[in-house]
Amino acid sequence: LNIAVMISGSGSNLQSLIDGCKDDINGNIKVVISDNKEAYGLTRARENKIKAVYEKDEKKIIEILKNENIDLIVLAGYLKIISEEFVNEFKDKIINIHPSLIPSFCGKGYYGKIVHQKVLEYGAKITGATVHFVDEMADNGPIIIQEAVYVEDTDTVDTLQKRVLHVEHKIIKKAVKLFCDKKVEIRGRRVLINE
Ligand code: GRF
Repeated sequence: LNIAVMISGSGSNLQSLIDGCKDDINGNIKVVISDNKEAYGLTRARENKIKAVYEKDEKKIIEILKNENIDLIVLAGYLKIISEEFVNEFKDKIINIHPSLIPSFCGKGYYGKIVHQKVLEYGAKITGATVHFVDEMADNGPIIIQEAVYVEDTDTVDTLQKRVLHVEHKIIKKAVKLFCDKKVEIRGRRVLINE
């Protein structure tokens, strides 16, 4: 399948997918799109001979995705909320990785380090990461995979983020592999994995 990855930052999740596509993911990343021209993820794309595009205009982004015949869009640290038109244009073909166990610590304003800060402030004992389908609301679509991460008493935002990021890299790869192997089935709000 033709995959597009949308980023805003370092692209460590993108890197995980680049590695996965060289391994056992039946898909290839055709384009990486960032709304931030400084995003290191664009460099990662170029280093792997993947088309790297800096674009902020959603209409132009949709044009690019159509021209590349994209079958799956992965939002990997893409900080913008995409519009309902965008979601409907690629229904059930957009997935997102979020660094908490949705529906906790998610939604507007919950991204990157802020998520882990809120987890520590709240005193939660378990957090984790979630890969889900994107619908018109933030961090709200049907969940594909989740994995828990235990919060340690000594954790800081940085130590917790590091452990959650490690899990993100694992489950984003697994979710994309399952999607490309057509083993993911959406039943209403639930996602069945036909492993
Ligand atoms: C990750 O924590 C991701 O879950 C969140 O933003 C961060 C992006 O990291 N949405 P990277 O750009 O993939 O390294």
